[in-house]
Amino acid sequence: MWQAADDETEHAVRYALDEAGYRHIDTAAAYGNEAAVGRGISSSSVDRDDIFVTTKLWNSDQGYEPALTAFDVSLQKLGLDYVDLYLIHWPLQNDERLLKTWDALEKIAESGKAKSIGVCNFEPRHLQLLVDRGGLLPAVDQVELHPHLPQQAIRDAARTHGIIVESWSPLGGTSNSGWGRSSKPNTLLSDDVITAVGERHGKSAAQVLIRWHLQNGLVVIPKSVHDERISQNIDVFDFELTDQDLDDIATLDDGIRVGAHPDELNVGAPD
Ligand SMILES: NC(=O)c1ccc[n+]([C@@H]2O[C@H](COP(=O)([O-])OP(=O)(O)OC[C@H]3O[C@@H](n4cnc5c(N)ncnc54)[C@H](OP(=O)(O)O)[C@@H]3O)[C@@H](O)[C@H]2O)c1
Repeated sequence: MWQAADDETEHAVRYALDEAGYRHIDTAAAYGNEAAVGRGISSSSVDRDDIFVTTKLWNSDQGYEPALTAFDVSLQKLGLDYVDLYLIHWPLQNDERLLKTWDALEKIAESGKAKSIGVCNFEPRHLQLLVDRGGLLPAVDQVELHPHLPQQAIRDAARTHGIIVESWSPLGGTSNSGWGRSSKPNTLLSDDVITAVGERHGKSAAQVLIRWHLQNGLVVIPKSVHDERISQNIDVFDFELTDQDLDDIATLDDGIRVGAHPDELNVGAPD
């Protein structure tokens, strides 16, 4: 639900749940739309227990006490008793504070108010910090991941520790993001290789991309606020990419990001 305004968010969540059949909603404190997500959930006809809700701790709330407080604020805004997954949004550049933040997430998991806890944008070295700490490991590492950036090193490290990898900007992000220093706008949805694969199957570029994530064993969270696209993006279970398709898509791996590299992002970090 990144970059979705309140009215769009409430409608998109309700439509995704009631009409299109989605059961996983991904939001964050920083997206400013947790309350609208909560309204979309409560006005849908799907039982709360059948919905998987993820939200995230923003950078300015890292640290033990701030994280506990921020979690309660998120729950309150969502209007929920629990979330299914609570994630640290960015690792930032202070390992000591990061570990204190993880202590808080462990406490939240123990309380049962987050069924699972995890991280975003963790490189293998950040995952290793938590492995070396002992205790709970993240259930999930949510990272920028698409055919330009298949993130093999992170996927290998995550698999070693039983951590699920979730792909953000799975379609290549918004057309004008470019919010990282080294980032580029999205070209995947109009890419010739992806479009050609789609033509072979009678599917759109977005559907090919979503299928690519699924066939790579990744959790995929495409964003749209348009009914037709929301429906299109879940209509991916009636075709399969062939080995030739996957080989063609593999040629797009050039390491180009649409977002920031975790080592360069310190936005909102406490002093
Ligand atoms: N943890 C993190 O740091 C982090 C960072 C970024 C994103 N995320 C999460 O990942 C989610 C997805 O990533 P994202 O929003 O960056 O990018 P994305 O899902 O790769 O792409 C979203 C863009 O594609 C468009 N779109 C969606 N379906 C389409 C279709 N079938 N045909 C054509 N265009 C389509 C959307 O437009 P419309 O909405 O106008 O339809 C939007 O502009 C976010 O919303 C957020 O929940 C997490």
